[in-house]
Amino acid sequence: MDIKTFGVIGSGQMGNGIAQVAAMSGLDVIMNDIKDEFVQRGMDNITKLLSRSVDKGKMNAEDKDAVLARIKPSVDIKDMADADFVVEAAVENEPLKFKIFQNLDEICKPDVILSSNTSSIPIGRIASQTKRPDKVIGMHFMNPVPVMKLVEVIRGLATSDHTFKTTWDLSIKFGKTPAQANDFPGFIANRILLPMINEAVYCLYHGVGEPEAIDTVMKLGMNHPMGPLALADLIGLDTCLAIMETLYNGFKDSKYRPCPLLRKYVEAGWLGRKTGRGFYEYK
Ligand code: CAA
Repeated sequence: MDIKTFGVIGSGQMGNGIAQVAAMSGLDVIMNDIKDEFVQRGMDNITKLLSRSVDKGKMNAEDKDAVLARIKPSVDIKDMADADFVVEAAVENEPLKFKIFQNLDEICKPDVILSSNTSSIPIGRIASQTKRPDKVIGMHFMNPVPVMKLVEVIRGLATSDHTFKTTWDLSIKFGKTPAQANDFPGFIANRILLPMINEAVYCLYHGVGEPEAIDTVMKLGMNHPMGPLALADLIGLDTCLAIMETLYNGFKDSKYRPCPLLRKYVEAGWLGRKTGRGFYEYK
């Protein structure tokens, strides 16, 4: 199928970033969320980032307006009836994602591919919620989406070659480099990244170092662009905990045990940048 209209479920930090790169690649985009204020916040963020590109001379004002005009805000999931390909980027909550896929399966045209930006939930489990498991796949973008080059493309057991190739080619159209992963908890990216972040939280928990020291060691000692605790704040501590839980429950191996301090922060509502407080404070 010729993909002209790209549907995005979720307008949060991942959803609005995906909508932006899809619109910048020339596709019409439907960006859907459950509340007007969420969709508006997503549109405001895209507008802010594009305006910054115009100010830096990296984009002209007409192109910015054209990109914004290609994004249709939506609060009705039935709008996905017009989409030719859908990516779901809702919060990392399994029952919620199951419900969304059941709805999309009812609403979307039968040949439409339903992808998930899930960071760790097995694709096979999501696919089993639909009557089109051959057309369900993982399309995992990295945060911040407009900047990061990778898309992890995850094949479920039933994913067809056609679905895989279409998703792979779409990632390239978005200016990204795809990498194939198979369907295990955390896939490749978060199977490796999250235990490192979790270990950094254990270092803080055990008093091995203060946050600044832990992050400085990893930034200057290992040449990481940002330290693991600052990165956890960027990802969202709730998302980090959800991924660790998926790894721990999926492998039943104590090496994936979420650090109690991570859980404590999440329970206190210290979720990182998005709430103004995580391992660091944000004004
Ligand atoms: N959204 C969009 N653009 C952003 C941005 C954001 N949140 N933050 C920075 N940028 C842009 C800046 O505008 C700037 O653009 P130009 O080059 O056009 O001027 C560029 O990125 C560089 O920004 P800065 O100079 O301000 O800062 P920096 O050089 O330190 O880069 C960073 C910032 C790109 C975030 C960098 O620190 C980095 O790469 N950090 C690691 C990010 C990472 O590991 N992401 C993966 C997270 S894991 C994940 O997402 C998977 C999951 O499932 C949890």
